[in-house]
Amino acid sequence: MATVPDMLGPLNISADTPALRIRGVEKHFREKDPETGRWRPVAAVAGLDLEVPRGEILGILGPNGSGKSTLIRLVATLLLADRGRVEVFGLDVERNRLLVRRLINRVSVEASFFKKLTAAENLAYATGLYGVPNRVAQARAREILERLGLPAKKLSVPLEQLSRGQQQKVAIARALLTSPTLMLLDEPTTGLDPKSRREVQEFVLEVRATHDATIVISTHDMDEADRICDRVAIINAGRFAAIDRSDRLKARWGGSAGTMEQVFFTLIGEHLDEADAEEGGD
Ligand SMILES: Nc1ncnc2c1ncn2[C@@H]1O[C@H](COP(=O)(O)OP(=O)(O)OP(=O)(O)O)[C@@H](O)[C@H]1O
Ligand SMILES: [Mg+2]
Repeated sequence: MATVPDMLGPLNISADTPALRIRGVEKHFREKDPETGRWRPVAAVAGLDLEVPRGEILGILGPNGSGKSTLIRLVATLLLADRGRVEVFGLDVERNRLLVRRLINRVSVEASFFKKLTAAENLAYATGLYGVPNRVAQARAREILERLGLPAKKLSVPLEQLSRGQQQKVAIARALLTSPTLMLLDEPTTGLDPKSRREVQEFVLEVRATHDATIVISTHDMDEADRICDRVAIINAGRFAAIDRSDRLKARWGGSAGTMEQVFFTLIGEHLDEADAEEGGD
């Protein structure tokens, strides 16, 4: 199989250096108070500590607006933290931004593509940035997309003509083309049909097994977190409420049924029956 360059080897990073280390990280945005019209700071990330060892799949579960994407964007160097420190393989992300960008790959629902270009052209552009030869990249892209159930002929139509799920598959293929040392997957399975979702999950497990990759994945799918993640972090209002193996989370916070859904509701401070009542209400 075609190989991509191993970025970590030449950097001499020891095996016990965590793939990701976050200490006291805070990020505030400004938002306009609708009543006074004044700008005020809102904490999207309100003080996070986290260590992800190499080879781990860490899941992040949390309500809408709890800070998952902000956290991922901070690690991906797309945002700068107001406070604290983020290290990727021991490298401070602010001081080593370009190097860190070559060690990480981010897939998000609002995938950043050139929509008028085809999938093949977009993949060629992305891999060019990472120094992967185009011939190698195209062969591997075909292989990955076939695995994810995207017909090969879709590689040569403009991306804007692909469905959201199909575009997401191209984004996943892109992340895997370049040596995916730390993969940041922001809701990679949201909006995918059940079969595609399962294919992506299997693929994530396979990538970890075959690529020495570390994976941080945010999701709203409780079963997904339970099934593929070594540990799950529950984030609420910009803080981690818990980080542990899912069996331990379920034993401690999963109630009598021992479900991840109950863990989620317990840790974000709502009760399942109240939420159900609200859904059915008014
Ligand atoms: N660029 C921005 N400007 C202003 N506020 C922002 C910005 N990005 C995020 N926020 C705010 O930060 C908070 C966290 O947003 P974030 O996108 O990290 O949440 P999330 O957990 O990814 O949510 P979702 O599950 O809906 O994707 C929200 O209150 C959001 O309104
Ligand atoms: Mg998000």
